[in-house]
Amino acid sequence: MVKRKYDPYYKQAKKEGYRSRAAYKLMEISERFYIIEEDDNVVDLGAAPGGWLQVAREFTTGRVVGIDISPIEPIEGVLTLRADLRESSTVSKVQELMGEVDVVLCDAAPNLSGAWSYDHARSIELAESALMFACETLSIGGNFVCKVFQGDMLDEFIKKAREHFRIVRVFTPKASRKESAEVYVVGKDYFRSPINVGDMFTVEILGMGKEGDGIAKVEDFVVFVPDTSPGDRVRIKIKKVAPSYAKGEITKKRNM
Ligand SMILES: C[S@@+](CC[C@H](N)C(=O)[O-])C[C@H]1O[C@@H](n2cnc3c(N)ncnc32)[C@H](O)[C@@H]1O
Repeated sequence: MVKRKYDPYYKQAKKEGYRSRAAYKLMEISERFYIIEEDDNVVDLGAAPGGWLQVAREFTTGRVVGIDISPIEPIEGVLTLRADLRESSTVSKVQELMGEVDVVLCDAAPNLSGAWSYDHARSIELAESALMFACETLSIGGNFVCKVFQGDMLDEFIKKAREHFRIVRVFTPKASRKESAEVYVVGKDYFRSPINVGDMFTVEILGMGKEGDGIAKVEDFVVFVPDTSPGDRVRIKIKKVAPSYAKGEITKKRNM
């Protein structure tokens, strides 16, 4: 309580009628990265008590839906669902309610145990579910903001986000408490490619790229394959997917 009294964001939220000091985090993130546009449909995961929902409602004239395992007091013009963001039924409900989704936000946090690595792992589990949620609901070009507690699995999560968004940044808003381990992963411009990391294909090398890798195509999508020459037929595993190309690694060379 004493801490709160001296917290300028807590005081400002009280004065300005926001349900949480977290509202100022979303304002800063959205203004800096142009996350919510005027008529966007926005889904907020882990939305209670509703500070982010209030901000989203102010930023867009589109639909705003909030999801939380805890109840959310009604907010005018906002639809709320009491549901677990990790459940596939939650994805289906949102698809039914909203059709096109332009922005997926996630400020969800596990109940903290105080054990750093355990809390980090649970936060990553929520963030990965939110990323899957975003991939299943976002329209092409959509945006994603997700809270994660820092730790050794953060880099892997960022790598996964880069497989789906053209721009990925990690950002700490001013309103995040100094002692907090939280950061926000911001994904801009959602893209869908016909292939995913881990997919396997047998391909023929059709030419050479500028950097000396062989070039193959999967459904017209360019795949660079190191250590190959035109005419090679190789079995590859996809290691990286970018918006306009992928990289594969040979698992087997085959004779033509
Ligand atoms: C930090 S609060 C969110 C604050 C909110 N952004 C605001 O501005 O008011 C985190 C929320 O995540 C919710 N949460 C945690 N795990 C969840 C899950 N699996 N599904 C949905 N909500 C979850 C919690 O119930 C909690 O309300």
